[in-house]
Amino acid sequence: MTEIKKLIADSLTKLRSVNNKEMLESLRIEISGKKGYITQAFSKLAQVGANEKKEIGAELHALKREFESLFYAKKEEIELKDLESKLKQEKIDTSLFYTTNFVSNGHPVYQMRDMIIDYFVGLNFALQDGPFIEDDFHNFEALNIPKYHPARDMQDTFYFKDSFLLRTHTSPIQIRTMENTKPPIRMICTGATFRRDYDLTHSPMFHQCEGLVVEQGDHIGFAHLKFILEQFVKYIFGDGVRVRFRSSFFPFTEPSAEVDVSCMFCNGSGCRVCSYTGFLEILGCGIVDSSVFKAVGYKDVSGYAFGMGIERLTMLKWGINDLRSFYETDLRILEQF
Ligand code: DAH
Repeated sequence: MTEIKKLIADSLTKLRSVNNKEMLESLRIEISGKKGYITQAFSKLAQVGANEKKEIGAELHALKREFESLFYAKKEEIELKDLESKLKQEKIDTSLFYTTNFVSNGHPVYQMRDMIIDYFVGLNFALQDGPFIEDDFHNFEALNIPKYHPARDMQDTFYFKDSFLLRTHTSPIQIRTMENTKPPIRMICTGATFRRDYDLTHSPMFHQCEGLVVEQGDHIGFAHLKFILEQFVKYIFGDGVRVRFRSSFFPFTEPSAEVDVSCMFCNGSGCRVCSYTGFLEILGCGIVDSSVFKAVGYKDVSGYAFGMGIERLTMLKWGINDLRSFYETDLRILEQF
């Protein structure tokens, strides 16, 4: 017993100077583990006489208590010290200047939209806006697309009650602008439009830009339109592109044209992207049809209008081949812009 008590006392001395978790644990095993000194001493109590047992037992209990209180105090001390050093190591200095090469530049479609707006606002076009939910009159009727007209088929959309629908193009904003102001008008607008479409090159929601110029008198002609749009296309795609006006049909313009640019992927020599024609269609335009002016009560005016898909311009400008990648919030694509 004397020997064991001495061993325990020695261990307690060691325990007092312990300063890490591992040493603490090995001392705990040494003193009170399954084969520890105290455990051994208690099991040897059976071998001594009743009187001695009482005395030695009390002594052992006192040693055990001393060990326990010392052990838990040490444990707390060490844990606190560990926590402090961990906190010090993991400290975040929020005042540190954060240098990064990951700067958000905005979505590519919105970058293109802003480029378009910059150009036209620079030419004194006013920026207009209109609602996503339109009525039949502004979206179709006033634009010379009567009920049952086959042109409605191409713009099938999502309908609400009472002839309300999600606008299929930004052209109704032309109508609203003319209803609210007198000529002269020079306006541009951009925004989301909706159609029942979904594939590689069509999405149920996409963005358009619309422009309208109207003046009193009959002097606004195709030459004005051609000049503005040719300059615009070069501003977007560079001076090197060739621009082509191809006769076309829209109910709200007469005459109408579609504008093609020389294919930027093959430089006009013909490839898969341009179906070996050397050209890509990018917008529709024309001289405003007299029935549109009639619908808004304008008399003795002339004007031109144009409309384009912003996603399409974005895809051509930056060589993106799947329209759907714009809406999938895949950072690997968006980060490239
Ligand atoms: N609204 C037409 C569309 O969605 C685009 C368009 C073509 C607008 C010719 C115009 C225009 O203003 O003159 O397909």
